[in-house]
Amino acid sequence: AAAQRRHQATLTEVLRKAEDAFKAQLRTAPRAIEYLKGRGVSGAVAKTFGLGYAPPGWRFLSTVFPDYQDALLVDAGLVITAEETAGADGAPAQEARRYDRFRDRIMFPIRNVKGETIGFGGRVLDQGEPKYLNSPETAVFSKGHELYGLFEARTAIRQAGYVLVTEGYMDVVALAQLGFPQAVATLGTACTPDHVRLLFRFSDQVVFSFDGDAAGRRAARKALEATLPWISDTRSAKFLFLPPEHDPDSFIRAHGPQAFAQAIQDAHPLSRFLMEVASSDCELDTAEGRARMASQARPLWGAMPDGALKRQLLQEIADQVGLDPRELAQLWQGRASGTT
Ligand code: CTP
Ligand code: MN
Ligand code: MN
Ligand code: MN
Ligand code: MN
Repeated sequence: AAAQRRHQATLTEVLRKAEDAFKAQLRTAPRAIEYLKGRGVSGAVAKTFGLGYAPPGWRFLSTVFPDYQDALLVDAGLVITAEETAGADGAPAQEARRYDRFRDRIMFPIRNVKGETIGFGGRVLDQGEPKYLNSPETAVFSKGHELYGLFEARTAIRQAGYVLVTEGYMDVVALAQLGFPQAVATLGTACTPDHVRLLFRFSDQVVFSFDGDAAGRRAARKALEATLPWISDTRSAKFLFLPPEHDPDSFIRAHGPQAFAQAIQDAHPLSRFLMEVASSDCELDTAEGRARMASQARPLWGAMPDGALKRQLLQEIADQVGLDPRELAQLWQGRASGTT
């Protein structure tokens, strides 16, 4: 365990050194600076988030780390090894070929809650694929457990009394620049129960603000499911829905901070969103549709811890599906009409 901790500390030092090198590169890369300017990113916010640039070329990091063969660079997710097989004549395998994972990309350092650099997201400057390349899973980085920007946002979250959860790196950067420094992002993965538990350590109010497109709507439903086990009568979540053509970055740049503040005001409380999800695709003017809603509501309601909110929602769902709350609870417990 002590050796494991030492290894992790070494990895975060390596990553920190790479971050500093990427930052220095950004200062001398007109293309990268133009890219960020073109997206409206100020020098101040770039500095806050430690944005950098990984230059083109396969082995930039060999100028930063004299021992480019060190396995630590691979363990840190910075260098990729392409194993070469033995030649047909039986010659021994050549030394593994190595190259930088991140090349010609804007670099977003990802930090843990202690502020240590644990990985990177790298964005292409043009239309290349993939648009974002992230660090692989390493001894210090696990995508489903980390939230981009949480370290930078921690004080602002406490001050605002809520945390904004977005999908993307640029959403966090744009929101911070335009007056909402309490924003974090899941890293292109669905919001997990682990994410939500971590968020509730910082605030008792979470506001999800995903992209307005279909993927963002799916992300919101996933976030609802991830949130339900952790809510209480004092801890809750809201869901902000943007127009389909926008994400938080494009919305706040197009419509301004006041419009975004209004969107937060208009965000749906968890209870309302739960009722919407429970009744989706249900024709409530038919018995079949109401029965379908009862079925869809069951796992959502069941995932909530007991409390005043849960009891009120039982009442609301029962009203919608046309049953008495006690009957509905019995139905869900499988005790109705001789099913047990
Ligand atoms: N993502 C990723 N890999 C991709 C595409 C996306 O890891 N190939 C993650 C990134 O964290 C990205 C987030 O998913 O920020 C949201 O994706 P998307 O909405 O497509 O990107 P934006 O953040 O809006 O990117 P940008 O504004 O820079 O175009
Ligand atoms: Mn998207
Ligand atoms: Mn975007
Ligand atoms: Mn987006
Ligand atoms: Mn618009």
